[in-house]
Amino acid sequence: MARGTALLGSEVAIICGAMSWVSERNLVSAVSNAGGFGLIACGAMTPELLDKEIAATKALTSKPFGVNLITMHPQLMDLIAVCAKHGVTHIVLAGGLPPKGSIEAIKASGAKVICFAPALSLAKKLVRSGVDALIIEGMEAGGHIGPVATSVLAQEILPELASEVPIFVAGGIGRGEVIASYLKMGAAGVQLGTRFVCATESIAHPDFKKAFIRANARDAIASVQIDPRLPVIPVRALKNVGTEAFTAKQREVAQMLDEGKVDMMAAQLEIEHYWAGALRRAVIDGDVENGSLMAGQSVGMVSREEPVAAILAELVAQAETALEAS
Ligand SMILES: Cc1cc2nc3c(=O)[nH]c(=O)nc-3n(C[C@H](O)[C@H](O)[C@H](O)COP(=O)(O)O)c2cc1C
Repeated sequence: MARGTALLGSEVAIICGAMSWVSERNLVSAVSNAGGFGLIACGAMTPELLDKEIAATKALTSKPFGVNLITMHPQLMDLIAVCAKHGVTHIVLAGGLPPKGSIEAIKASGAKVICFAPALSLAKKLVRSGVDALIIEGMEAGGHIGPVATSVLAQEILPELASEVPIFVAGGIGRGEVIASYLKMGAAGVQLGTRFVCATESIAHPDFKKAFIRANARDAIASVQIDPRLPVIPVRALKNVGTEAFTAKQREVAQMLDEGKVDMMAAQLEIEHYWAGALRRAVIDGDVENGSLMAGQSVGMVSREEPVAAILAELVAQAETALEAS
């Protein structure tokens, strides 16, 4: 993990992936204080809200942490400026290729820029654009997902690019043995989300955590797209009434498109807003029936609420045992 820890400045190269509504000051500082690397999920926050969240996180930890920004946020450049004002050391750009000027603006602030690479060709392009590190995330992950499995992305991308930039593997990681195997393939570290949702320090509603503890891998299903005109980015979540409601929402938006009441851009935004609202309902209000229970397939390995430090210690011990045995 040496390349990973050198890049992140943490004790172990285990990133707690940004999770909207979950990855706020408490979880982020707990992860960084325990030796991992926490990331604030900016999601749809305004620059003012992000400003407050960064300040509050800094008050809880003196260890390094980063901020995850969504590339399609209409105020992306203002959010980058807020991070620069606070001297944020690492910015992860998620949700599509970074718009022109964003990588340069982050680098000019002195921060390191980390991007998601959904395929080898794009990974190469991002390396050429000067990113400091990559995250490759497979479809086992919770939240918005791509179409390819983590194991396949790792085989395609690590042998080609691991010597050029540090690469973090994400999606479906529940135990340390698999962390060891990705490190052996050349990864610099890993990123986990689902495994941290039930951390004691996570502010997720108790009922949200209970749903995770009860669920099996097969309950974390990818959403389906019902209209070929409406390319919905699949979201992996525990199935509930909300899953059905999302299908109904797509039908409703498709009909609005048919009737010329919305254009394509507005239709897609309508769908993305649906997820943001639904996740908040489940994480914060505890509406686990109608809200969105975004979760990865590793949810089956979440069996109790426990402190972040215990989760990290267990993952590291399992990885060490596996590496020593090999
Ligand atoms: C509840 C939830 C919300 C998430 N929200 C975001 C997000 O806002 N931005 C992002 O880049 N990734 C998001 N993710 C993905 C995580 O950052 C992480 O990459 C993923 O959970 C890793 O896979 P795993 O769930 O199999 O551990 C989310 C994941 C979950 C489970």
